[in-house]
Amino acid sequence: RVDNILKDKQVVITAGGTQEALDPVRYLTNRSSGKMGYALAEAAAERGAQVILIATVKRPVPYGVKLIKVSDTQSMLGAVESYLPGASVFIAAAAVSDFRPVQLAKNKIKKMPGQTSWQLALTLNPDILATVGQAKKPQQVVVGFAAETQNLADNAQKKLASKGADMIVANDVSDQAAGFNSNDNAVILFIKNQSPQTVALADKLVIARKIIDQTMALLASKVLE
Ligand code: C5P
Repeated sequence: RVDNILKDKQVVITAGGTQEALDPVRYLTNRSSGKMGYALAEAAAERGAQVILIATVKRPVPYGVKLIKVSDTQSMLGAVESYLPGASVFIAAAAVSDFRPVQLAKNKIKKMPGQTSWQLALTLNPDILATVGQAKKPQQVVVGFAAETQNLADNAQKKLASKGADMIVANDVSDQAAGFNSNDNAVILFIKNQSPQTVALADKLVIARKIIDQTMALLASKVLE
C-alpha cells in the first residue's frame, strides 16, 4: 500500500547551508536556515520512516529522526555515502556551496600592512545530489531542490536530467515570503514525464508533507507490482 510504503524504510535527508572553512575562525556559507530539510524529516518520520538527517544546523530534532551534524560539503558527502546503501529515499535539501577555499589555513589569516584587496582561490565541490543520482539503485528515489531567481521551470527540468533525480522541488528564492529563512514556502514539483504541480504558499511542514506524499508515490511505482 502506498500509505505505508515508508514504514521502517530509511530516508536520508541533507539540510542547511554548508560551511566551507577558510581558517580556524572563518567560513563561507549562505542564507539557508535548514528549516525545509527539518520539515521534510518530520514529514517522513510521520509516515513511519527511519530518518537520517545530515544537517549543518541544529534545530529541535523531530521524533524518529537521527541527526548527523556536519559542516562542510565533503563531510556531508561522506555522511550521505555511509547511509545511502540502506536507504530507500534520498532528499537533497541542503544548500551546498558549489566551491570551497583551495586551502584551509592552519592559523587565522592576517591582513598585511597596507593590503587593500585579497584574491581568494576556490575549487569546485563535489555535487552530492548528482553523485547520488548517478549511482542510484532502481528501487531508490532521489529528490533534489532547485532554488532559482530566474527561469525556474527551465532550470528545474534540466536539473531532473543532469542530477539523475526522480523529482526536483523548485522554489523561487527571489520571493521574500518563501524560501530561504522563511517559515513558509511555495514550490513547483517537477517529475519526469508529468506536468509540473504547483504547491501554494504554506508552512514548510505542510509543503514537506506534499513532497513526501509525492515521494511515496514515486517509491510505490518502483517497488510495488
Ligand atoms: O545545481 P544546484 O546547486 O542548483 O542544485 C541544487 C540541488 O543540488 C539541491 O538539491 C542541492 O542540495 C544539490 N546540490 C548538492 N551538492 C552540490 C550542489 C547542489 O547536493 N555541490
